[in-house]
Amino acid sequence: MKKFLLIFAIFFSFPIFSAGAGCGTLLSDDGLQEGVCEHVEIDANNKASLQRGAKLYMNYCFACHSLKYGRYKRVADDLEIPYDIFEKNLMFGEAKIGDLMEISMQEKDSKAWFGAPPPDLTLEVSLHGADWVYSYLKSFYTDEARPLGVNNKVYENVGMPNVLLDLQGEQRSVCKQVPMYAENGGLKQDPLTGEILTQEKCGFLEVVPGTGLLSPEEFDQSMVDLTNFLAYMSDPIKEKREYIGKYVILYLLILLVLSYLLYREFKKDVH
Ligand code: HEC
Repeated sequence: MKKFLLIFAIFFSFPIFSAGAGCGTLLSDDGLQEGVCEHVEIDANNKASLQRGAKLYMNYCFACHSLKYGRYKRVADDLEIPYDIFEKNLMFGEAKIGDLMEISMQEKDSKAWFGAPPPDLTLEVSLHGADWVYSYLKSFYTDEARPLGVNNKVYENVGMPNVLLDLQGEQRSVCKQVPMYAENGGLKQDPLTGEILTQEKCGFLEVVPGTGLLSPEEFDQSMVDLTNFLAYMSDPIKEKREYIGKYVILYLLILLVLSYLLYREFKKDVH
């Protein structure tokens, strides 16, 4: 029995790996960590969030980034948006509800305009991970040295213009005084006065107040919704899989008990 329990424990405690990539020169709020993406909680069951994300995507991203491995109809069905509302608000031009979500921008044109063609984003979250995408969307900042006047902490020298500027407002890369840390991890103090020692560190992101349509909290929520939608596009059956998965595990557990009982019966004969 002990052996069984051990195998059981190992099986269920196995860590679940998720794809992730470094986050460039993104600094945490206290400046202690660099290159670590901000975490975002993805919720495939939150239909309202997915609907808001889809709306943002179709209005702010779809002009340049196709979702060509998905179909409008599938998205409307999964997100529980009636076809007429979907067609009226989330589809443009000649597109039909049964079509793949392609765009009309030609790759050679966009390459000439931006230096790099905007990639299809259907599988973006599978490629980079949700945390990366979320952090990327929040990390555009003013940089006069770049051709479009904008750079990104997560994706250095990116060719994408900051299409979120009106929502977020102008974001700048600024310097701040941050506490110094001793080798043992504690705060460094002045031995005479006991004052906490600080140093200047540059590269923090700061939104110029009053320049965006949304408050910082609203903007963060919008980017959660947008990332949630892209995560759904990468893995549209996640919700269904998790639902079925519960029954599969239950079935396996029952099977485990039965197999163990059978094993005990067989063992009796061995002696
Ligand atoms: C005006 C066109 C344009 C719009 C609109 C646009 N992007 Fe982009 N985007 C680009 C270009 C061009 C690149 C490629 C940049 C490069 O490789 O340097 C890019 C790159 C990206 C990447 C990185 C892709 C990768 O893996 O290399 C992501 C993620 C992304 N865009 C998301 C978005 C989202 C989300 C929106 C909507 C809020 C959006 N983009 C709106 C032009 C656009």
